[in-house]
Amino acid sequence: EKDKGLIRDSWESLGKNKVPHGIVMFTRIFELDPALLALFSYSTNCGVAPECLSSPEFLEHVTKVMLVIDAAVSHLDDLHTLEDFLSNLGRKHQAVGVKTQSFAVVGESLLYMIQCSLGSAYTTSLRQAWLNMYSIVVAAMTRGWAK
Ligand code: HEM
Repeated sequence: EKDKGLIRDSWESLGKNKVPHGIVMFTRIFELDPALLALFSYSTNCGVAPECLSSPEFLEHVTKVMLVIDAAVSHLDDLHTLEDFLSNLGRKHQAVGVKTQSFAVVGESLLYMIQCSLGSAYTTSLRQAWLNMYSIVVAAMTRGWAK
């Protein structure tokens, strides 16, 4: 319950500015693993990551990702209701060539984005709370690979 409060409070302001925060997250993802950029079919329309991230298709995906996180935060009390949605989402990512191992990079970048936004309010317990929620989301998405 304490974890849920930490997550909700930290998402309160972050979630109001989804696109800019999502861009911080994806800039970090492509820094850590530039190969992930190539999985977006529309990435051929641009050269490098920072440039790509301002294209409408990328901003749309960034928004979609932030909306999924938003949904998870809203459903902290009943995350299992997102199970089918998340495993289907996993299956779609398998289809575009994402590997489950890449979710480690995504998780690290999610924490990086939260840390950038919160500064000194980013604590060990907050980090752990987010990691716990993220691992539930990833577990559900990963089930899509087996389907
Ligand atoms: C769709 C790639 C991570 C949520 C897609 C598509 C691609 C893609 C290529 C299809 C084209 C598009 O809709 O833009 C990736 C890569 C990721 C990643 C390379 C990082 C490894 C995530 C994460 C989430 C997410 C972490 C949310 C937690 C979505 C959603 C869609 C989508 C909601 C739309 C699915 C639909 O059409 O029903 N992703 N994605 N993605 N992605 Fe991702």
